[in-house]
Amino acid sequence: MRALAPAVLAALAFAGCQRETRDFRTDPPVLAALDDVAPLPNRIGGAPPDVYVALGQPYQANAYALSEGKRLYDGMNCKGCHADGGGGTGPALLDGWWRYGPDIVSLYVTLRDGRPRGMPSYADKLNSEQLWQVAAYVQTIGSYRAATAATSRNDQMQSRPSENRGPARAPLTEPPSR
Ligand code: HEC
Repeated sequence: MRALAPAVLAALAFAGCQRETRDFRTDPPVLAALDDVAPLPNRIGGAPPDVYVALGQPYQANAYALSEGKRLYDGMNCKGCHADGGGGTGPALLDGWWRYGPDIVSLYVTLRDGRPRGMPSYADKLNSEQLWQVAAYVQTIGSYRAATAATSRNDQMQSRPSENRGPARAPLTEPPSR
């Protein structure tokens, strides 16, 4: 019995550990089904593919996908036109007023097909997994996502510093009184 205890404890520890799933690649059949977006005729909004809903919105609720989206936002030079969300040649994304809507299908379609007044299409530069990742990240720029996964704006762009960047406190010379 005693010899079993560590094994049982270890099993319990793992069972209790509900980390988010971190799939580095989506199954090709799932990914193919994810391509199946149905935008409304005006190409604003529409139904996400059933598999997207069934999977529990895999990109929007996943910190790895959001950080990949952020990396691609830099790498594809979205910043060249939209800055860090403040806008430039392209419209601001931070202000929360979005001509083509903030939902994930609109964003996916925006990125895949482009938009008429100067937004390029990324269909030949990003695969659809990457398009979903960027779309999910862009939602966090407009605060359209109360993300359970960490939003991924850089610390220096936050309205207050993160805990580990706050002013340092003088070390205590004696234990705090209770
Ligand atoms: C060459 C400049 C340029 C680049 C690069 C660019 N955009 Fe755009 N983007 C625009 C313009 C201009 C519009 C407005 C299009 C319109 O109104 O028809 C736009 C529109 C958008 C919109 C819709 C905004 C709304 O109000 O609904 C989103 C979202 C967006 N871009 C995200 C991105 C992302 C993400 C990237 C990088 C993958 C990117 N853009 C790269 C110029 C650019």
